Amino acid sequence: MIRKISEKIPVDGIIRPLNRNEVLGLIFRLTAFGAVTYFTIEWMADAIDPTRKQKAEAQKQAEKLMREIGVQKIQLSEYEMSIAAHLVDPLTMQITWHDIAGLDEVITELKDTVILPIQNRDLFKGSRLLQPPKGVLLYGPPGCGKTLIAKATAKEAGFRFINLQPSTLTDKWYGESQKLAAAVFSLAIKLQPSIIFIDEIDSFLRSRSSSDHEATAVMKAQFMSLWDGLDTDVNCQVIIMGATNRPQDLDSAMLRRMPTKFYINQPNVMQKIDILKLILKNENVESTLDFGEIAKQTDGFSGSDLKEMYEDFICPIRQEDLQRALEKMKKSKSAGFQETLMHVTLD
Ligand SMILES: Nc1ncnc2c1ncn2[C@@H]1O[C@H](COP(=O)(O)OP(=O)(O)OP(=O)(O)O)[C@@H](O)[C@H]1O
Ligand SMILES: [Mg+2]
Repeated sequence: MIRKISEKIPVDGIIRPLNRNEVLGLIFRLTAFGAVTYFTIEWMADAIDPTRKQKAEAQKQAEKLMREIGVQKIQLSEYEMSIAAHLVDPLTMQITWHDIAGLDEVITELKDTVILPIQNRDLFKGSRLLQPPKGVLLYGPPGCGKTLIAKATAKEAGFRFINLQPSTLTDKWYGESQKLAAAVFSLAIKLQPSIIFIDEIDSFLRSRSSSDHEATAVMKAQFMSLWDGLDTDVNCQVIIMGATNRPQDLDSAMLRRMPTKFYINQPNVMQKIDILKLILKNENVESTLDFGEIAKQTDGFSGSDLKEMYEDFICPIRQEDLQRALEKMKKSKSAGFQETLMHVTLD
């Protein structure tokens, strides 16, 4: 039998060295086979875990940020890495108390109740009452400085700032949300002192209801128990700071966990004068400019509206310019209001 087979194979086919074209052909086929295998494996990996690319991106971003904030030699899990991608780059965090106008009372209270107890924690070691709060809520109408205050607090207190977008936790696969929620806390503890800032916290931790998806309900409950965990460790320097303009939608259990609350209201005339002065601080303005006169006419304006008013000016800025900008802003605000009304009636 073996003899029969070996008779059929031409002898020179076994021992003859391959010629140049055959070698090139072989190399080409091997390369093509390698490439096909590589892309097939990539495709299969993507199909099995669609978040793989996102995770790799997050890891790169997180490593860069960690380097920038001077954190080295801290081992992070894969989930902590995903959360670390939401650390705010310290170079871009430039908001200080001086960038906030008309909110001196809130700032003083924040310094006394939150920042000082943390910075002087050794002095208050024995006191249970003077411990910094583990939760702070900033609430009030839109555009009045809540996010500004949160950023300035982190900057001025020298805290690391994790800007947690609720969608980071809620838009995930079943099971992922819980792991990420746990990672938020473990990362904040590893990087402490740190602030976990949850803007629009109502969208994330709104009153729990029976219509909640099971996974969301589990995640909320877990988030709260992790939050309680911060309280048990006296040396823990992690604060959760939430901001909302719909505090009435917040879960009462959540509200209880944020005992320190600051109401950031629409600015009054005096506060508006301060905001206007701050906005135009570095601009070329006419010395006769009457900020009080303008401020009086800005009923219902937020700090953000005032800022928006002064976007396109030719210097030096004169009273008429301000007046014109004011009228324009009023018109666009009332148009926006009409639109909102229309949506409400259509809904
Ligand atoms: N008190 C203030 N001093 C200086 N600038 C202000 C003040 N309030 C608002 N602004 C301006 O308005 C912008 C928006 O403010 P911010 O984002 O803090 O509002 P917010 O209260 O967080 O609003 P929202 O509820 O819509 O998130 C700021 O970037 C700033 O330019
Ligand atoms: Mg905000």
